[in-house]
Amino acid sequence: MKALILSGGTGSRLRPLTYTGAKQLIPVANKPILFYAIEAIRDAGIHEIGIIVGDTREEVKRAVGDGSPWGVKVTYIEQDAPRGLAHAVKISQDFVGDDDFLMFLGDNLVRDGVSAFVEQFRTRKPNSLILLSRVPDPQRFGVAELENGRVVRLIEKPDVPPSDLALVGVYLFDQNIFTAVHAIKPSRRNELEITDAIQYLVDHEFVVDSHVIDGWWKDTGKPEDVLEANRMMLEYIDSDVRGTVDEESQIFGRAVIAPDAKIINSIIRGPVMIGQGASIVDSYIGPFTAISERVQVIGSEVENSIVLQDTIIDQIPTRIDSSLIGKNVRISRIADRPKALHFVLGDNSRADVQ
Ligand code: DAU
Repeated sequence: MKALILSGGTGSRLRPLTYTGAKQLIPVANKPILFYAIEAIRDAGIHEIGIIVGDTREEVKRAVGDGSPWGVKVTYIEQDAPRGLAHAVKISQDFVGDDDFLMFLGDNLVRDGVSAFVEQFRTRKPNSLILLSRVPDPQRFGVAELENGRVVRLIEKPDVPPSDLALVGVYLFDQNIFTAVHAIKPSRRNELEITDAIQYLVDHEFVVDSHVIDGWWKDTGKPEDVLEANRMMLEYIDSDVRGTVDEESQIFGRAVIAPDAKIINSIIRGPVMIGQGASIVDSYIGPFTAISERVQVIGSEVENSIVLQDTIIDQIPTRIDSSLIGKNVRISRIADRPKALHFVLGDNSRADVQ
């Protein structure tokens, strides 16, 4: 069996972060979302992975390389534009060859991995196995309608969802999916939809099994989702303090503090991760915060947030909460009059002040 990870697309709902980087490389608990997918696939015993790449191909290739750090072999498959999930399958036919395959959307996180589903597919041998999860907002997803436990209908982002069963971004297929992706036509949003391809399988009497997962799953499409994923993954960390913590500082709860990080006269209340070379000075870092490499937090308080590489947060008088802050950002307090807020914000930035 092989695997495909979809890491193309535009990431429009995560702008401005995705103007400068791939959405699949945004870190959750200081690890790029895409790496969790690679690990889940490897842990399910699959070692040949095709990664679909688009505009952000260079960044993805730099981060993942040939896959050797994970003990897998990675092949890159270039997609000229995000023409849909079924289009990605279509252009992967040579890579997949005669194998069955697992398809994993590179912006999805499945906490408990995919080994159990791969096992179910291998033993029961359906033509496809789809994963479903009950969600409060099914109109954001592909939605499945079941009858006596059998999949009868799949609709992509319906205005009026027939159920609360969302399609999780992990699918297993045999060769028949290639017939389906060649047969379907582009949707209203001009994409070749994987939901339409699976519907084709259902309509042509192929066996499509479904499995409703009860473990935690997230499509990290929006900033709130990334923060929730970060909270979920930080729940599972064990303490590992390697950086310097001075005598004036206190650490409560679980914290991972990377080598070369410095905690000076500060309070860290876990679960928290502090990346390599970061410095936290005269500050408070509260629960569910992930601070990336070389970030500086000085005289400030940050909680329930993700702060990316090389950013500086300096002397901010109000606690920063539930925030997703990009790379190389500077947030500082100035003493000059008039007392006012100064912004240099990129397109689609968001600043909420009180
Ligand atoms: O997350 C689950 C949902 O994912 C499913 O419920 C939907 O049925 C499915 O269509 C998909 O919906 P999204 O709107 O979330 O898909 P998105 O455009 O975000 O793409 C998912 C991943 O695939 C993302 O990592 C980008 C990548 N991608 C996307 C397209 C359209 C590609 O590599 N190539 C593409 O052409």
